[in-house]
Amino acid sequence: MILLDAGRVIDPSQKIDGTRTVLIDGERIKEVREQGATPAEKLVHTVIDCRGRWILPGLVDLHVHLREPGEEGKETIATGARAAVAGGVTTIVAMPNTRPVCDSAAVARFVAARGREAGFARVLPAGAITRGSNGEQLADMAELKEAGCVCVTDDGRPVMSAGVMRRALEYARDLDLPVMVHAEDLTLSSGGCMNEGPAATRLGLPGIPAAAEVAMVQRDLLLAELTGARLHVAHVSAAGSVRAIREAKARGVRVTCEAAPHHFTLTDEAVAGVAAALGPAGEPYDAHAKMNPPLRAESDRRAIIGALDDGTIDAIATDHAPHGAGDKQLEFINALNGVIGLETSLALTLALVRAGDLPISRAVERLTFGPARAFGLPYGTLASGATADAVVVDPEREWKVEPQRFFSRSRNSPFSGWTLRGRVLRTYVGGKLVHTEQGQ
Ligand code: DOR
Ligand code: ZN
Repeated sequence: MILLDAGRVIDPSQKIDGTRTVLIDGERIKEVREQGATPAEKLVHTVIDCRGRWILPGLVDLHVHLREPGEEGKETIATGARAAVAGGVTTIVAMPNTRPVCDSAAVARFVAARGREAGFARVLPAGAITRGSNGEQLADMAELKEAGCVCVTDDGRPVMSAGVMRRALEYARDLDLPVMVHAEDLTLSSGGCMNEGPAATRLGLPGIPAAAEVAMVQRDLLLAELTGARLHVAHVSAAGSVRAIREAKARGVRVTCEAAPHHFTLTDEAVAGVAAALGPAGEPYDAHAKMNPPLRAESDRRAIIGALDDGTIDAIATDHAPHGAGDKQLEFINALNGVIGLETSLALTLALVRAGDLPISRAVERLTFGPARAFGLPYGTLASGATADAVVVDPEREWKVEPQRFFSRSRNSPFSGWTLRGRVLRTYVGGKLVHTEQGQ
C-alpha cells in the first residue's frame, strides 16, 4: 500500500478539505482517513510525508489536442500524456482533429491503445461528429462509442448546418454520448484573427465579434432542448455565452461547458504583447496570444470567472493545442491558432484562488469532479473504491514557466517567463507513480 500521509486533502466530490491520509491499495483508493500513518504502517508500507502539501484527485482535462496520428512533430500521444501528468492531469480527452480525423473505430482504437502503451495520463478518445469533420455526413457514432470514444466533436470547426446538428444530437442522444461543440458562426468570424474591440482597432487587425460564438451557443442550446441530447460547449470565451448557458441550465436543458485558463487569465490586450511584457521582453504582436476562440475583453474574463464560481461553467479544460515555432513566427494574421496548457493549468487556476476570485474548493472541483461528471466518467474523486488518480502539490512553490523544459513537444505557451505558484510534486494514475518533481 501507499499512504499519502497527513496532507491537506481537498476532494470536493466528498466535501473534504482538511488534514487527512490517503490510502492507496493497488489500483484503487482504499480510504481517506483522519489518522496519520502509524509506526507499524511505516514499517510495511510506502509512506509519503505530505505535511505542508495538498493532496488532490487527479485532474480531468476534457479538451486536449494530441497531434498523433499525423503531426507527431508537434506532439505525440506519449509526449502529451507525459506533459499531462507533469501538470497533475491524470485523464485527458483527445480531440479528433488529427490526420486522419478520428471518425472511425480504427483511429479511436489506435489513440486509446497508444495512450495505454505510453502509461502516463489516461487517454480517452473523442470521435468526430461528421466524417472528416466536414460538417456534412454524420460519422458512425455507434462505432465510435464502441471503440471507446467518450464524446463526439468536430472541434476546431463548427457544424454550420443546423439541420445536420439536429440529426447529430438525435443520434448522440440515443447513444447517450455528449456532443461537444466548437461554437462559431463562420459567417461572422471569417477573416478575423483576434477579438473585435478597441485592441483590434488600435492594432489594425481584423476582428471576430463575440456574437460569432454567442449566436452558435444559442442555436445549439435550442437544438439540445429540441432533441433532449447532452450538449457540451467547448472553450466558452464570451459573457453572452455564459448568460445563455446559465439561463438554459435554469430551464433544464442538458448542457455542460468548459473554460480555458488562457480565457480567464488574459484579455485581448495580450495580443499587443502585454502578456509578454509581464514576463520577458515584449514583442509588438504576440502570436502566442492567438487562439480560437480568441482572447476577449475584461468584461468577458470576469463573466467566465463568475461562472466558474457559480457552477455555470462545469470544467476547466486547457484546449492544449501544440504548434511548432514556424507556425507562430509569422505575421499575426497568418499564425496558427492555439496554445499549450497542460503544464500550467493548475497553477493558473490557483492564481485565481490567490486573487480572491474563486474559493479553493470550487477551483479544485472545476479541475476534477466537475469535468468527470460532465462526461459521466468515474474519475476526479478520492472516494473509497475509486481508481487511485491523485496528485501531491506544493501550494507555495514558485516556479518560472520555461517552455523549453516542458514535457510537451511544443513550446507555444503565452505564459513563458511568468512566475507561477503551486507545483505538482507527484502524480499517481491508477495507483502507479507516473511523475515526480525532481528531488521528491
Ligand atoms: O486555438 C485552437 N486550436 N482552436 C481550435 O479550435 C483548434 C485548435 C487546434 O487544433 O490547434
Ligand atoms: Zn480545441
